[in-house]
Amino acid sequence: MTEFRFDQWLDLYATRVSQMRSSEIREMLAVATRPDVISFAGGLPDTRVFPVNQIVESTQRVMLREGHEALQYGSSEGHEALRRHIVEMMAEIDVEVGVDDIIITDGAQQALELLGKIFIGRGDTIIVEAPSYVGALQAFTSYEPDVVSVPLDDMGLRTDLLAEKLEELIKKGRQPKFVYVVPNFHNPVGVTLVEERRRELIELSGKYGFVIIEDDPYGRIRFDGEEEPSLRSMDENVVYLGTFSKIFAPGMRLGWVAAPRAILEKLIFAKQAANLCSSSFSQRVTEEYLSAFDWRKNVEVLIDLYTERRDAMLSALEEFFPEEATWTHPNGGLFIWATLPDGLDSGEMLAEAIREAKVAYVPGRAFYVGVEKNSSMRLNFSYCPPEVIYEGIKRLGAVTKHHLALYRSLLRGYSPGSK
Ligand SMILES: Cc1ncc(COP(=O)(O)O)c(C=O)c1O
Repeated sequence: MTEFRFDQWLDLYATRVSQMRSSEIREMLAVATRPDVISFAGGLPDTRVFPVNQIVESTQRVMLREGHEALQYGSSEGHEALRRHIVEMMAEIDVEVGVDDIIITDGAQQALELLGKIFIGRGDTIIVEAPSYVGALQAFTSYEPDVVSVPLDDMGLRTDLLAEKLEELIKKGRQPKFVYVVPNFHNPVGVTLVEERRRELIELSGKYGFVIIEDDPYGRIRFDGEEEPSLRSMDENVVYLGTFSKIFAPGMRLGWVAAPRAILEKLIFAKQAANLCSSSFSQRVTEEYLSAFDWRKNVEVLIDLYTERRDAMLSALEEFFPEEATWTHPNGGLFIWATLPDGLDSGEMLAEAIREAKVAYVPGRAFYVGVEKNSSMRLNFSYCPPEVIYEGIKRLGAVTKHHLALYRSLLRGYSPGSK
């Protein structure tokens, strides 16, 4: 009798596919999209911030003026007029680049995938922050690297630990290909890399010869605090990733890479193989929107909205979370990272949070490579209105306290002197 196998092609897939397992977390979070669940799990902008009417107008103008070109294939580098806007936007963060130093991608996510493709061979060493953006880990791990993780704290990546790690790797004859960082309002932690550590990171890249990938989707979504200089403004060898997803609309699927020409050339080859070009239509509509409307004002509106929500979440955490818990106080972006006392597993708690309290978050372990247990959670504050945030954190606080009490009683049960 033939053995029953769920997937009859299992022996045919490339080895990298084994890295693409569906996770138990993802399955649980699929339930969290139900309307009766308050979800802090996504990383989504509030749809209310999308300038729908301005996009309707931009689309109409593009179709009337250049409809045929907008529906044709475009160049792999991207629409030049859009790249000119990006040059201006980059100048605002003190990055001097020309149109030829930039290519357009399908969001920053495609840039991560293409960078994985051009830099990572099987078993190559790459360095990421711990924790790190899940989408980057997914993009990179499919190329089968050896992932080295370096912790971060309230001031961003621990460059002192990075230096130690690099020394260790080089001694073992392992050359790291790149260090991937989200320096502003980190996903998932919300912290910002301080200037001194930015300098240290750049010095280390000069000393050890790795590429720095600066992924910056949130830099413009600042509520308060001082702006730190972009890594790319400090060193022209940095590969900078930008995106229109958080300052305009993720549905346009547009981002960009500013990189040294030699790297850009390889990225273009990789992009040609991936999708020939990004959507000519999206690029032209976005270009028209940037030219015709005050997009900066729209960003200010969304900053006001998210500031209120961040504040609502911070005060709800203060009111409802156990006093042993800690959390970050981001000056921008979309996320707060809350940490429960050691020993508690936020992954284990998720099922109860969804089932009993109808509230969802992403457990910390999702943001690490090879970590099974973790007591932190990522809480998104951009998507729900303040009153829903308040209610959700109230419910989550109750689940957390319940788990903590349970954990304590278990500990007491196991303590050496107990009966
Ligand atoms: C750190 C980071 N990088 C990249 C992305 C991908 O964004 P997009 O592909 O929409 O530009 C995200 C999305 O949330 C992100 O948080």
